[in-house]
Amino acid sequence: MKRSNTATEFARRALSHLNAGTTDQAPDVMVLPVSTYLDKDRFEREFETIFFRHPQALLLSIEIPNPGDFVARTVMTKPILAVRGKDGKARVFLNVCRHRGAKLCQDGKGNQPRFVCPYHSWSYDSAGKLVGMNGRNKFGDADPSELGLTELPSAEAAGVIWTILTPGETLDIDAWLDGMRGELEKLELDGWHIVDQRPLPGPGWKVTMDGYLEAYHHDSVHANTLSKHTIGNLLVHEVYGHHQLLTMGRRNLDELNRKPESEWEAETYIRQIHCVFPNFQLSGIRGGHCLVSQILPGTTPEDSVTIQTILASKKPETPEEIADSEAFSRMALVAVGEEDYPIGFGIQKGLRSGANDHFLIGRNEPGIQHYHRTVAELAGA
Ligand code: FES
Ligand SMILES: [Fe+2]
Repeated sequence: MKRSNTATEFARRALSHLNAGTTDQAPDVMVLPVSTYLDKDRFEREFETIFFRHPQALLLSIEIPNPGDFVARTVMTKPILAVRGKDGKARVFLNVCRHRGAKLCQDGKGNQPRFVCPYHSWSYDSAGKLVGMNGRNKFGDADPSELGLTELPSAEAAGVIWTILTPGETLDIDAWLDGMRGELEKLELDGWHIVDQRPLPGPGWKVTMDGYLEAYHHDSVHANTLSKHTIGNLLVHEVYGHHQLLTMGRRNLDELNRKPESEWEAETYIRQIHCVFPNFQLSGIRGGHCLVSQILPGTTPEDSVTIQTILASKKPETPEEIADSEAFSRMALVAVGEEDYPIGFGIQKGLRSGANDHFLIGRNEPGIQHYHRTVAELAGA
């Protein structure tokens, strides 16, 4: 397993690129066939293997901090119910009654000790156990101990609840996260506060993901938002198994040339994006705030939904803190919803035009190269 790096090491590498006018590069330009984004069979294979057979981030732990807290959400066609039990353990279930399959709980969030099916009122506790069968004396033979909610494999690590969307799969979270676990733990996500959360419709999942994996477009697309804070087309690229850490320089990076390393507060000169394969991105754009993006493929190669969650390092309380969090949230919405995704929708439309039969992924876009290689490897393409 690869060790995690210090902020100073990342800042040193970013500064040396700034001074030399360089960036981390892949060995070669990659040729990527346009069918990668469009082929229906391939899409279905990837949906089935990558998203249904491998771990993905489902929720932040702080979304269900207390016993009885739950989130019900439809994730890529699957109705999911995540609940924190009385024992403090977070569990993930299919949100489907074991009697005749009614949806147990409407999508949303809340806190309750029991879940009562709206159809015939069977009830389940926060550990998924069937604890009540309405009219049991008339029902006949049925063993409640075998009729708990169907649980999905899950694990809680680094402030995130991870799951595999198929019952019976084995989830080894240490093996899956590799050295990325150490990088995620440094973020101390358990101590953050949720400011906002919203769904954003996007183009196909791969077109959408590509936009999160390079800094090449920042100066042109985000001139009035992200680019004010970070340097475009300068990337320090680290790979941890399937996952990646992208480090960019903040606009003040050059100041480090005039300070001895012992005086650096390195994290205030860099910005990092943690890209956890296949669809979970954590992006610190300005100090004290973080944008979490979960990109969920739709049911076709042409559409996706991103759950965008805005975090503040502490609960905003003063008018200034509240205004600051709102400004960050607005910037994230504008940068992604009004700057990135319109470009993505345009790409998605142009894919079928016949203009390109392949794309060239530059040496300065190593994150996209690694991502598509990983997709092909895990989907057996
Ligand atoms: S389907 Fe839930 S109690 Fe009948
Ligand atoms: Fe972007």
